[in-house]
Amino acid sequence: MNAMLGNRETLRQRAFQTLEHGRRREPLSRAIDGILILLVVADVAATVSFSVPEIKLRYGPGLLLLDRVCVAVFAIEYAARLWAAPEHPMLRQRKPFAARLVFAATPLMVIDALALVPLLLEVAFPQIALLPLTRIVRFLKLARYSPALATIGRLIANERRALMACVVIFIGVLLAAAAAMHAVEGALQPTQLGDLPKAMWWAAAMLAKIGGSELTPVTTLGRLIAAITVMLGIGCFALPVAIIGRGFYEQIRRRDFVVTFAMVARVPLFSRLEAAFIADLVGMLRARTVPAGTTILRKGDRGDAMYLIASGAVEVQSANGPVRLQEGDFFGELALLSREPRSATVTAIRATDLLVLDADDFSRLLVRLPDIGAKVQAIANERVSPPSAAC
Ligand code: CMP
Repeated sequence: MNAMLGNRETLRQRAFQTLEHGRRREPLSRAIDGILILLVVADVAATVSFSVPEIKLRYGPGLLLLDRVCVAVFAIEYAARLWAAPEHPMLRQRKPFAARLVFAATPLMVIDALALVPLLLEVAFPQIALLPLTRIVRFLKLARYSPALATIGRLIANERRALMACVVIFIGVLLAAAAAMHAVEGALQPTQLGDLPKAMWWAAAMLAKIGGSELTPVTTLGRLIAAITVMLGIGCFALPVAIIGRGFYEQIRRRDFVVTFAMVARVPLFSRLEAAFIADLVGMLRARTVPAGTTILRKGDRGDAMYLIASGAVEVQSANGPVRLQEGDFFGELALLSREPRSATVTAIRATDLLVLDADDFSRLLVRLPDIGAKVQAIANERVSPPSAAC
């Protein structure tokens, strides 16, 4: 019985690692991702095609069958993720039911649940043939595989002050334009500018350039105000677009792949960390994929980051000869600790996924987590000691 329970536990842990990208290059994990991405794209394409009457007439039953197959797979996927949820390092202290409930409320799981809603609605109300709008939500399932989309929440949270400033500027411009136009043409065009709320609607339309042409200013001053409002509108919209665009670009540059909680928790250096710290690290770490043969660090360069190997292997041309480091190991710590140039050249010997901790974040981490600092220091000491001393 115990052995059986032990097996089940292992299977659940394994399922969690596979589904949550703990091991990114694991073939099974990649195969599951590939199939799911393919099915999401096929299902959305089927939904779009189904809305065309000629296609519906010819291929309707086939498309419906495809949809049923996709939804069945999504349902199994959802159930498997929910079943494995108690293995999430952040939820391990909770009872399995509570862990699953909390996990079900995470954004990606809510999207997964929404992807199943159309089927439930169709079973409950068979008279409603197709609900294209609710089915298109399934496209969002791809967020799990896109580093930029997966971090959009964090992006908006990081930029919230700048975005709030844009809202304040927008409201300020809107009020000023409305008040100016109301003062100049309120008496001449009372139906559209007679009071401030009406004038604010006009200003909003002008700023967004929607339907602003319905009202033509009749005075020269009014025309001038309208022209300035339109130009300010362009600025008001360009500002948040620029902020989000820059953040998006940064995220894309920072992340070659999605860094998951399971991935960070598997790194031996962090495995004993509290879940909250791991969550912080997920936000801090950059993700870089390098092909075999890439020189990651060059001896003598300035140290600006430490690297953790999420998968793959590298070779260090150390003073004691070549040293091979693999999944779970780290390198690049010596230059950060000693503030001296890189002590060796490090080259990828296979396609390698790296989690990169920038120097500033590394220093912050050492202050917050002295135990981790001590572990890194101990390994660094071993590395710099001559071979005889190391033995
Ligand atoms: P750093 O000097 O910043 O850059 C090169 C890295 O190679 C170094 O940090 C260590 O992380 C790593 N390194 C150097 N010597 C050894 C060694 N003998 N064994 C393992 N790793 C090493």
